[in-house]
Amino acid sequence: MCGISAIAGHKPVAKLLLKSLQNLEYRGYDSCGMALFDDEEIKLRKNIGNVNEVNAIEHFEEMKGHLGIAHTRWATHGGVTPENSHPHFSSDNNFVIVHNGIFSNFQSIKTDLEAKGYRFRSQTDTEVFANLVQDEYKAEADVETAFCNALNKLEGSYAIAMICVYQPDTVFAVKKDSPLVLGINDGVNFVSSDMNAFISETRDTVLINDYEYVMMTNDSFQVKRLSDRQIQTKQIIHVQWDRETAQKGGFSHYMLKEIFDQPQTARQALHIPSQEIEVIARKFIEKKQSFCVGVGTTYYVAMIGTYLFSKYADLYVPSISADEFPTLIPVNADQHVLFFSQSGETYDTRMAIRAATQAGAATSAVVNVVGSSISQEVDDCIFQGSGPEICVVSTKAALSQIMILWLIALRVGVLRNRLSEAEAEAQRKKLFDFSRLIEKVINEESGFIRDLAKKTSHVRNWLFMGRGIYYPVALESALKMKEVTYLHAEGLPAGFLKHGTLAMVDENMYSLFFLPNRKDVELYHATQMAIQEVKARQGKVIAFCTQDDKEVQQVLDHYFVIPETDPEVTPLVEMVMAQLFSYYSALNLGLNIDKPRNLAKSVTVG
Ligand code: F6R
Repeated sequence: MCGISAIAGHKPVAKLLLKSLQNLEYRGYDSCGMALFDDEEIKLRKNIGNVNEVNAIEHFEEMKGHLGIAHTRWATHGGVTPENSHPHFSSDNNFVIVHNGIFSNFQSIKTDLEAKGYRFRSQTDTEVFANLVQDEYKAEADVETAFCNALNKLEGSYAIAMICVYQPDTVFAVKKDSPLVLGINDGVNFVSSDMNAFISETRDTVLINDYEYVMMTNDSFQVKRLSDRQIQTKQIIHVQWDRETAQKGGFSHYMLKEIFDQPQTARQALHIPSQEIEVIARKFIEKKQSFCVGVGTTYYVAMIGTYLFSKYADLYVPSISADEFPTLIPVNADQHVLFFSQSGETYDTRMAIRAATQAGAATSAVVNVVGSSISQEVDDCIFQGSGPEICVVSTKAALSQIMILWLIALRVGVLRNRLSEAEAEAQRKKLFDFSRLIEKVINEESGFIRDLAKKTSHVRNWLFMGRGIYYPVALESALKMKEVTYLHAEGLPAGFLKHGTLAMVDENMYSLFFLPNRKDVELYHATQMAIQEVKARQGKVIAFCTQDDKEVQQVLDHYFVIPETDPEVTPLVEMVMAQLFSYYSALNLGLNIDKPRNLAKSVTVG
């Protein structure tokens, strides 16, 4: 998740572009840059650091030109270096690009372009697009055609803005699975990752859909469909947000914004290039034993991994909480440990890495922050590219890690001949469908979840229960509830209840059951048994179930309606809905949701 911005003006735009970068910085801040069309050529300045640090070196505001693009980066491909910072020139410096997202097939296109003599100055996937447009322009000297042809060759997720010397009054922009909006003003038009970039200049905005591209000058804009280049009619929407609301994307808290970011960040994770998945998947084959390790939420991510490896690869991969790992596991060189960390700085996880490394084990990680300690301490690292997670409690980073873990487990399944390529591909498709489904669920169910949180705002003690993969989902959801509401919420396996915890159940105890999809017949009935055990002791029960699940609805005090969906992804749908439930429960209590008491975003102490 990076921030992109482009401005076409009737007057110099450098200062406005710089301001837009400052407004977008929350989307990423490891490096930034600007390119402006100035006196027959494109001038580019970029460097590493946050916007103010880079501006102190590069003096962006001194740049000249009425048309420009800008970018603030959250690295996914290639380290944090000046060369990898955006914008990126084509080899001939006639096209310049900023990009948010991942081109998943960039490697093969890069190889083809290199064979044709194109030079690459960075390790980024973005530069491939710049050279591809140059190559297409050679074939047909029309910028719009070259832009569309290049896009048709690339897969992945993207929001792109481009300027070039051949059409010096026009910004070209396009989106697929990454956000992009237009800002319309008198004589100055904007295109950006979000309206926060230009909210101080204009509140008139146009929303762009996936596979639509924009051609924008200072006094006009056209939106076309990529498939047939047909012009799309667009409405200008006037937004009323203030600056702070705009920064949170119109949401009242970062937690809510980050929950709503998830359809996009999950898709971004699913576009991680297959070569990166392959490197880590092979370690599960090469080494005798593998472990998944994280702490707090990332431990629950790791636990979900245990269920995924078992299901898809017929392989037992124990998950261990990082703080226990050094004392519990006698690590050796025949082993491999896969770590998870949003911040990449967590002390407990770093100590577990140290223990694994000292024993000669292979180490790998899925990390959100590029350049972080953990990313440098492991042998191989996948950057999940979820963008800064500002709320102290983790939502979108965790879901993206689960997506990547899922891809790794599927690949290990193929390498162990437990899944065919076609079966793995079918599962991948389900994950993409899931990312679209949660978009619908969070939009349509939020109101209902908020009402239910209000109805249960008197509850002080919760049990969150599930079986199978729903068990780590229940644990993670209970942790979310504890963190933001400070209430007692205990996660446990539904089957464990009768072995002790049932003693706590009376008419004041509320239980939330992560009821499996009905098609998971055994798990479904086993969880229902636990619901009956609670009901028989006058306990209150809430559960996730579908609209048609009339039989179970009759015994419940309240229920969340989940859509009819594939059983594989039902646990994740419930996890996302439970995030919203925790959020609205905390909202009712008037708590500091983005910064819960006693907690820190990055726990760098032991
Ligand atoms: C919970 C949460 C924490 C972190 C844990 C690990 O919402 O955010 O439990 O998951 O502190 O942090 P990272 O992922 O940065 O290593």
